[in-house]
Amino acid sequence: METKISIEDVSAPGDLILETGTENSRLEGKLPSEKDLATSSEEQFKCELRRSGDLQNGKTQLTAASVIEVIDVKKSYILGDMEVPILHDINLKVREGEFLAIMGPSGSGKSTLMNLIGFLDRPTEGKIIIKGLDINKLSDREVARLRGLEIGFIFQTFNLIPRLTALENVELPTYANSRSGVDTHERAKELLRLVGLGDRMRHRPGELSGGQSQRVAIARALVNDPAILLADEPTGNLDSKTGCEILNMFRKLNEDGRTIVMITHDPEIAGYADRIVLVKDGIIQNNKE
Ligand SMILES: Nc1ncnc2c1ncn2[C@@H]1O[C@H](COP(=O)(O)OP(=O)(O)OP(=O)(O)O)[C@@H](O)[C@H]1O
Ligand SMILES: [Mg+2]
Repeated sequence: METKISIEDVSAPGDLILETGTENSRLEGKLPSEKDLATSSEEQFKCELRRSGDLQNGKTQLTAASVIEVIDVKKSYILGDMEVPILHDINLKVREGEFLAIMGPSGSGKSTLMNLIGFLDRPTEGKIIIKGLDINKLSDREVARLRGLEIGFIFQTFNLIPRLTALENVELPTYANSRSGVDTHERAKELLRLVGLGDRMRHRPGELSGGQSQRVAIARALVNDPAILLADEPTGNLDSKTGCEILNMFRKLNEDGRTIVMITHDPEIAGYADRIVLVKDGIIQNNKE
């Protein structure tokens, strides 16, 4: 699957931070005017994004095959001699090309569920099936390959390696697994340009803003062209304008056929997905497709 979004589609997010009059004034050492403050206000910004209901491919998903199946999954953590149940009995199917949002209160088990789907952790009981493959039946090597090539993971806290540059961070997953015939160095550069960071490739995470770090994390998640994108609060640390751009990017990746599972606290952001699943106290509350 090839990413078809163009640099124009992303509308140069690299320029965002400096776009408002307030920021420019700060850079030039001037106090912001009232007009500047008005244009930079969060309330002034309206995210213009098509909802999935407006898209033509919405209907075809009902007949598409499941790419993610979570079957009777339980997850507990052992703390001292106590077993603390976190996920109780989770059943979830995500269809190919679906854009699913997961919502729920803090501590309800959303990231725990996402980590299980992304093979970052194993369930205490139950099965996770990705693209028809039961991960309990795969060797560690096969799991690593499936995860490396088919799943792009965007973490709640970016998880960039501080001593590596943006470019090296994006290239990192390709050291373990890559698709044959792909020039991974060029692909990493192309993705950084795509997310508007063509001029930040040699910066380290400490030299990037939160929104820029999140965009590096998105480029890293896409470097092996995965079929499934898992995003844990991808816009949680961003202002609404940058968050909207990230969502726009997701929408386009979804239109290109990628399956997206996104955790969010924000009902408005969840409203852009095809379906919303609510997790509360380790249980899915609404499980209708
Ligand atoms: N490694 C761990 N060991 C023990 N308990 C854990 C571990 N990871 C998570 N938990 C517990 O599991 C529960 C669910 O955590 P999780 O991170 O899945 O919540 P969340 O829904 O993603 O919350 P938030 O919206 O705040 O990110 C929490 O009570 C947390 O303390
Ligand atoms: Mg979480």
